[in-house]
Amino acid sequence: MDEDFLLLNPGPVPVTDEVAAAMDERMISHRSTEFEAIYERAQNGLDYIFEQSTVDRKTTEPPGGGTSLILNGTATMGMEAAVANLVGDGGNVVSLINGKFGRRFARIAERYAEVTRVSVPWGDSIPLEDVRAAVSDSTDLVTMVHNETSTGLLNPASGVGHIAAEHDARFVLDGVTSIGGDVFCLDAWHVDIAVTDAQKALAAPPGISAMYVAEDVIDELNGEIAPFYSDLEWHLRKAQSHQTPFTSAVPLFRALAVAIEDIVDETMATRIQRHRNQAEAFRRGFTRMGLSLFANPADLTVLSNTVTAVSLPETIAGEDAPAFFDAVSERNVSISGGQAHLGGEIFRVSNMGRLPDTAILRGVEAVGDALTDVGVDVDVTAGLAAARDQLDVAVAQSADD
Ligand SMILES: Cc1ncc(COP(=O)(O)O)c(C=O)c1O
Repeated sequence: MDEDFLLLNPGPVPVTDEVAAAMDERMISHRSTEFEAIYERAQNGLDYIFEQSTVDRKTTEPPGGGTSLILNGTATMGMEAAVANLVGDGGNVVSLINGKFGRRFARIAERYAEVTRVSVPWGDSIPLEDVRAAVSDSTDLVTMVHNETSTGLLNPASGVGHIAAEHDARFVLDGVTSIGGDVFCLDAWHVDIAVTDAQKALAAPPGISAMYVAEDVIDELNGEIAPFYSDLEWHLRKAQSHQTPFTSAVPLFRALAVAIEDIVDETMATRIQRHRNQAEAFRRGFTRMGLSLFANPADLTVLSNTVTAVSLPETIAGEDAPAFFDAVSERNVSISGGQAHLGGEIFRVSNMGRLPDTAILRGVEAVGDALTDVGVDVDVTAGLAAARDQLDVAVAQSADD
């Protein structure tokens, strides 16, 4: 194994040795009691993560409760399952778009219902007035991406959830890069279905995903109109006995159970604080060395605490960007570029999962040194010092707690 390799992409993120080892255990039947016990362990931990992602350790369980379940597919499957079980022909959906994943949600919804898109340029904040103007009493469903991974923005779930609730519309929230790393409030935000992925802030291997379905929405699900594989009524029935309708990806479920138990041990409150500090260290490191963050937070929209997107300096943007990414790779560090039209315009790093603070510093240094290699004048020493100061202050604060 290459011990020196540092994976800073916004998913998949590094997994611990224990999580990796769980995938190597002997194969078992997905209909065995042994498998059910694995699913149940993961489900118990997921209940905690979905219902207690707060800094003050308060529960956010919806009044009627809800069910955590695991899907044999990545979060795109969960996004589609949520939409397809709630709306069909004649249904009205409002989809918020300020990045690639918001757009994906709209595209999914367009396969099933009429969609009103509320769009702003990628990286901009969506004004709540625009959402208010689009959602009406005939809206059945609102889709939103909480943490827009393509741009590094954290969208205002509370404001949008309230607007949806005022019109009695269901609210499906993609928490793929927030759940497990940042605050997520099912009840206060009126979330009916929340979706997340294994390979992001849960720090498990890619291939499966998780969902929380609030009890109050269960009666509104119609599995018959959804893709056969994504019939949520069926998934919920099987989840009661800790199974999936079809063959489970046994090694991935095992790894997810271990990763989730690590989160329970750390506690969400501590984990959220750590993610916030590390994201702030990235931001301070990059801006202090002379770079600009890409996203434009305004009003209730803020910068992400799990993914940082940085504009590439003009001299290396576009066709010259690959030389920069190659120079980062040469340092055995993996980061991401921009997606779709943002290719060559930005780079993105993640602090999701269980990264030590030294990984954040190494990321800042690798980016700074790579930029220097390709002729950009950045102050790497100042950037590193700013990131280190932030991490040191955070350590001192947690010692005082
Ligand atoms: C916010 C968000 N939603 C959805 C997805 C889709 O995930 P997948 O490709 O694993 O289905 C991603 C993946 O990066 C994401 O970041």
